[in-house]
Amino acid sequence: MKPRLLLTLFEVQAGRGRRERLCAALRAAVRSGQARLGERLPSSRDLAQDLGLSRVTVEAAYTQLETEGYLRRQVGQGSFVAIDMAAAAARSALRAATARRLPTDAALLSRRGQRMVDTGGCSEPDRPRAFVAGSPDLQAFPTELWRQLMQRRLRRDGAALMYYGDPQGLPALREAIARYLTQSRGARCTAAQVLVLTSSQQALQLLSATLLDEGDVVWMEDPGYAGARAAFAASGARLVDMPLDEQGATLDPRRPAPRLVYLTPSHQFPTGCAMSLERRLAFIAHARASGAWLVEDDYDSEFLYDQQPTPALQGLDAHGRVVYVGTFSKSLFPSVRLAYVVLPEPLVAPLVTARTVHDGHPSQPMQAVAADFMDEGHFAAHLRLMRRLYRGRRDALLQALRTHLPWAEPLDSRGGLQMAVRLPAGSEHRLTRAAAQRGITTPSLGELYHAAPRTDGWRLGFAALAPQAIAASVRTLSNASASRGKKP
Ligand SMILES: Cc1ncc(COP(=O)(O)O)c(C=O)c1O
Repeated sequence: MKPRLLLTLFEVQAGRGRRERLCAALRAAVRSGQARLGERLPSSRDLAQDLGLSRVTVEAAYTQLETEGYLRRQVGQGSFVAIDMAAAAARSALRAATARRLPTDAALLSRRGQRMVDTGGCSEPDRPRAFVAGSPDLQAFPTELWRQLMQRRLRRDGAALMYYGDPQGLPALREAIARYLTQSRGARCTAAQVLVLTSSQQALQLLSATLLDEGDVVWMEDPGYAGARAAFAASGARLVDMPLDEQGATLDPRRPAPRLVYLTPSHQFPTGCAMSLERRLAFIAHARASGAWLVEDDYDSEFLYDQQPTPALQGLDAHGRVVYVGTFSKSLFPSVRLAYVVLPEPLVAPLVTARTVHDGHPSQPMQAVAADFMDEGHFAAHLRLMRRLYRGRRDALLQALRTHLPWAEPLDSRGGLQMAVRLPAGSEHRLTRAAAQRGITTPSLGELYHAAPRTDGWRLGFAALAPQAIAASVRTLSNASASRGKKP
């Protein structure tokens, strides 16, 4: 190895002791390939002279590099480079590539974890804008009142609320939820059957984890809610699709016997229709005979505009087969992270235990404020106000569609925070791209169909948008579709 090279490298290793600088220079020479495998280094005497160092310093550096594996020293023969860095790097890269070829589930995740990841997850919009689906209007939320209730609760019970709480949920909130469901949704339940969770999604995930084994059959509405499909698929359940007819999800006893049936009977997601009483009774009778669980996701029936919502399936069930799921994500605000299930009595203790394995409980102060909000009549007043507001927006959307997009046909517009519209067959992808180029989000209807023949369409979220914004955005959609130079 040329003394000149080591001198240059030594000079650039500024800022440390001499021995350290020499070690760094030697490492750099080997790593960069400027000193090759087997090459002989200058004797310690010569190098000390060239670099103006003591021989002791050079000896110490050579010994250190030998310890690190860079050099090999042989008595009477000298010091030699002991490693080919380029070849070693190539060998490591090959080993890494071989490892990558192993199946990912063996390398990284369990089968269950891989199934969960394979669902693609459930994402929520980052902010309300035209026409993301399912956002409530947060500008209209009584934030100041909520703040006052929170302040009062923290003043009165701050220390208790900041400690761990009941894993089934704050008793005051469970009482308020049971009262609300009995009076407004026709449910038959007590606070002892209510389990408070952070979201419907958590409820579906918990039910999936506790009620389903790999290979169990789950009947799903088709089209249906992707979040529920993801939760059940993650357990390795076999999803069997139930197409809809004019009475709601169809019940065909020739399908493989289900362990669980998922329904949105009051306001079918995404079409918006309500299940007939006759069909509800048929599902309950079938569940009783087959031992299946009926999961009733009552996600937005607070928002029906032209009529009272049909009472909950749970209230019709005298045999304890229905698990009712509700959420405050729409009726309060999404980040309140409060939802609930009403459980048949035998499921209460097991599911409360299971939820402690997932998490302890939702935030205690939030539960306490939600309980006060309900008990003091603010919840009922807020829902009345929101229904009026959203009904006006629903009407604005219907009007704008009739005027500017007559080929976008609403499926059922009697409720909800979004409206499913049918588009001319085969046009959804093209129209969605055109809308996106104008900055408008149009969530897909078609992708929610599985075995059932696909309906091209959109789910237009309207509740968070002022009527002017709705009209302007529908006009933009109309221009976007026209500027493609084709009829839809
Ligand atoms: C059918 C259905 N269930 C549940 C939810 C979500 O509720 P959460 O935010 O409590 O998970 C939605 C959200 O849009 C929904 O459409």
